[in-house]
Amino acid sequence: MPENFFLSEEILEQIIDSGNRTIMVIGASDSGKTTFVEQIAKICSLTRKTAIVDIDPGQSHIGPPTTVAWGMVEKKEFEGWEKLKIKGFYFVGDTSPTGNLLPVITGARLMWDEAIRQADKVILDTTGLVRGNIGKILKLHLIDLLKPEVIFALYREDELEHILSFFRGVKFPRIFKLPVPSDVILKDFTLRRNYRQKKFRDYFKFAREIEFIPEEIGISKNLSPDYLNMRLISLRDKNNQDIALGIIKELNKRKDRVVVYSPVSNPERVGAVVFGRLKLTLEGVEMRF
Ligand SMILES: Nc1ncnc2c1ncn2[C@@H]1O[C@H](COP(=O)(O)OP(=O)(O)OP(=O)(O)O)[C@@H](O)[C@H]1O
Ligand SMILES: [Mg+2]
Repeated sequence: MPENFFLSEEILEQIIDSGNRTIMVIGASDSGKTTFVEQIAKICSLTRKTAIVDIDPGQSHIGPPTTVAWGMVEKKEFEGWEKLKIKGFYFVGDTSPTGNLLPVITGARLMWDEAIRQADKVILDTTGLVRGNIGKILKLHLIDLLKPEVIFALYREDELEHILSFFRGVKFPRIFKLPVPSDVILKDFTLRRNYRQKKFRDYFKFAREIEFIPEEIGISKNLSPDYLNMRLISLRDKNNQDIALGIIKELNKRKDRVVVYSPVSNPERVGAVVFGRLKLTLEGVEMRF
């Protein structure tokens, strides 16, 4: 990727400093957050074991959309998101944090716990939801829970001030503001939806039909086909950990089997199901109503 942020000596020092184990990048949509995270990952991974937590359930780079996920930068160098192996994910159930703050926050903390246990440095990519009170609540609580030593705030005009002003009298975390470069490319709704569609399609490419006994995985027989059919779900193992996403095909006529499309490798491990808030085709087309 040719684009890069200009990094002053001071910022470079903050990135490299071994005491700064968790580095958070915040900014509105299309402010260059993910590109900046890549740049930090490239620098950190040269000398430290580096992990990235992707707290964006929409334009996801680690794992499929609707999840918060983390991965380890292998081979001492960041070589692109495709090469980054996903180490764990938490199902948010939707592609937007709006209306889903609890699962986003819970997933972020759980993924960070794992990442910080296994890596020297953890870089946090966040969603572009910064506006208004909801953006402020999300960011302040993420910061409280994940305790980054350093926050890089990518700003245009004063769009982050209602969040950053909170920290005016605070020494920790240290906050560095960087202006969004004027040549950052804006992604419209269609481009974002197409990106998600491709990620979903790739994820379900090797999905197959699997049958479960509904009551064995906590699915009530009383749920209507209208609610169930084509609903995106997460399959959890018997320790209540997310292991794979699935799409419900149908509850059969006798209601004694539920058929699910999923790439899950060991269906016998499944112990529970979390329902998402959207329906999905195997081609990754989102259906909302
Ligand atoms: N420093 C930069 N200079 C020029 N172009 C950039 C720079 N940073 C990012 N870009 C380009 O701008 C676009 C948006 O960047 P990026 O995806 O990193 O932003 P984001 O804030 O993560 O967006 P999102 O809201 O989707 O998460 C990309 O096409 C990227 O290549
Ligand atoms: Mg991004």
